Amino acid sequence: MRLSVIPCLLAALLTPCSLLAASLSVTSPDGSIELTLDDTALTYQVQFHQQQVIAPSALGFRFLQLPALGKGYKITAHSRNSVNQTWQQPWGERETVVDQHNELVVTLKHPERQAPFTLRFKLFNDGLGFRYEVPDQGVDKLDIIDELTEFRINDSKQTTAWWIPGRGWNRYEMLYRTTALNEVDRAHTPFTFKLPTGVHLSIHEAALVDFAGMVLDQQRDGVLKSDLTPWSDGIRVKTNGSFTTPWRTIQIADNAIGLLNSDLILNLNEPNKLGDVSWVKPGKYAGIWWGMHLETQSWGSGPKHGATTANTKAYIDFAAKNGFDGVLVEGWNQGWDGEWFLNGAVFNFTTPYPDFDLAAITAYGKAKGVKLIGHHETSGHISNYEAQMADAYDLYAKHGVSQIKTGYVADGGQATHIDENGIERKEWHDGQLMVNHYLYSVTEAAKRQLSINTHEPIKDTGLRRTYPNWISREGARGQEYNAWGSPPNPPEHTAMLPFTRMLSGPMDFTPGIFNLAYKGLDAENRVQTTLAKQLALYVVLYSPIQMVADLPEHYAAHPKAFQFIKDVPTDWAQSKALQGEVGNFVVFARQDKHSADWYLGALTDEQARTVTVKLDFLPAGKRFTAQIYRDGKDADWRTKPYEMIIEQKSVTAADSLTLPLATSGGAAIRFKAEK
Ligand code: NOJ
Ligand code: CA
Repeated sequence: MRLSVIPCLLAALLTPCSLLAASLSVTSPDGSIELTLDDTALTYQVQFHQQQVIAPSALGFRFLQLPALGKGYKITAHSRNSVNQTWQQPWGERETVVDQHNELVVTLKHPERQAPFTLRFKLFNDGLGFRYEVPDQGVDKLDIIDELTEFRINDSKQTTAWWIPGRGWNRYEMLYRTTALNEVDRAHTPFTFKLPTGVHLSIHEAALVDFAGMVLDQQRDGVLKSDLTPWSDGIRVKTNGSFTTPWRTIQIADNAIGLLNSDLILNLNEPNKLGDVSWVKPGKYAGIWWGMHLETQSWGSGPKHGATTANTKAYIDFAAKNGFDGVLVEGWNQGWDGEWFLNGAVFNFTTPYPDFDLAAITAYGKAKGVKLIGHHETSGHISNYEAQMADAYDLYAKHGVSQIKTGYVADGGQATHIDENGIERKEWHDGQLMVNHYLYSVTEAAKRQLSINTHEPIKDTGLRRTYPNWISREGARGQEYNAWGSPPNPPEHTAMLPFTRMLSGPMDFTPGIFNLAYKGLDAENRVQTTLAKQLALYVVLYSPIQMVADLPEHYAAHPKAFQFIKDVPTDWAQSKALQGEVGNFVVFARQDKHSADWYLGALTDEQARTVTVKLDFLPAGKRFTAQIYRDGKDADWRTKPYEMIIEQKSVTAADSLTLPLATSGGAAIRFKAEK
């Protein structure tokens, strides 16, 4: 501890120790990152390679019932710890995760108040996290009305930010903006930005449990302040007098791909609380889904009803023939007729439409080795869903369903909750009530060995480590926008996602549309990529469950390209981001968890570009047959999206591959280990 006046013990004879300003520092294990806490005004700052990347920034909270916690509190004790360990993931981008960090735990006390509180810092080589641990403050009810945590950025005019607005009507489903940092208003996290020095950072949070989601609000230029999403009554977080916050995280890297090769968020979450989770199964799934988005089928009853027993059996046949694990069926249950997104109260999660025979379908699937994947669209009516949740999960479990896709289609701020007085309240999808609801659905599902894939979710904060049955989620614009979005996803969208949304965890993007222009090449609504880029998405956009999203007849038109989707796994022994720039392009290599094969995915935005990839990620001295799917010579997403070259080459780790990527193009490669 550095005291600004005289050593504390001596000073204690003359002056109360707590009146002296003090500071404490902690560095990452490799020394590249240093955080300093100073209790003069209670601020922290961060240096990376001796350069300030976070300027002195405030810490603290304001409460309804008690004076603020923050400025005025003084350091009274601290301890340090160093950790260097590994842990195993049941599924993931890699099997073994390294957790190496230095910890600093600081006790702070206000001279005139009884209860102290703790700040816990963990510094890793790829960033840091800190959280507040506030023990019993002597009141039964403590409402947080503001979090004071800041992230101050110097040079905000010269810093580039990639962001989506916070507290918008469309939750997290917006196109990413590229602006100078000082033009940001209120942004969701992960919030990624690049300093003029080229250093890349991303601010987010880890282990968001029983708290409000953190949005960043830019106040003066360069001052990003935590803006916790409030309840409908204006309180940000309701506590019973003590609380522990989620980790406030800052990833820091020399370049863009450094952000991708980081396990910081997972390392800040608690270990698996579910015990044996061998029942959580990664895999690929087809579904009665895209037809509804194209409006050739309907969720509701009638002549276009998609979820019929006959249709589902045909999809089960398609999945069985091609080695896919599941079939998602949406629109199987009562409640979809009419304006379903405004009518969450009428969804019934245990009563199928008469043309959907749940028992017959699951028995048929069982015989073919294909699981029905369940679906619960709630339209954001939480009370209606919670009232039926136990019965609904029991019903699926009884029929051998082991994965459920949930949905919360309702505008931001419009999730419906009937409170204890019977009054209807409207809440944000990222407020404390919904944070708790989403996790409740996951823990209730776990009791029945069901996995949950949440659409219109709370953002991911790494809770899959603690609850591995939270298998995937949406939480950004997915493929569906290409069917009806105005505009649909532009070419840069999937070059943006890895560096932003996906720093938080897996995404159920639903790749693999093969009929790229169902209304014609010039229609507004079409997929703005080449066919090769659709294949690359399976490697680039990580999720342990990947949809084979298009209609079977559209795959039948491109059998050779379809082979890649049949081959590509969804669970990995290891993953490496090799090259990339935010919003421009990205190249990933991943090793299959169940074989010696490797896979590569590369994709670009609207700029055609050639990437040269060294194959030194492959094990040395071993031969692989590279099965390459890449854009053809004249491929172009607007005019010739289907033009593709499929070729084979025998390669080793000593080789390089040159991959020409068309406008909004891509490349997908399977490296099959030679015997
Ligand atoms: C939005 C989801 O993202 C989409 O996949 C689903 O089909 C609809 N909601 C209906 O539940
Ligand atoms: Ca959605």
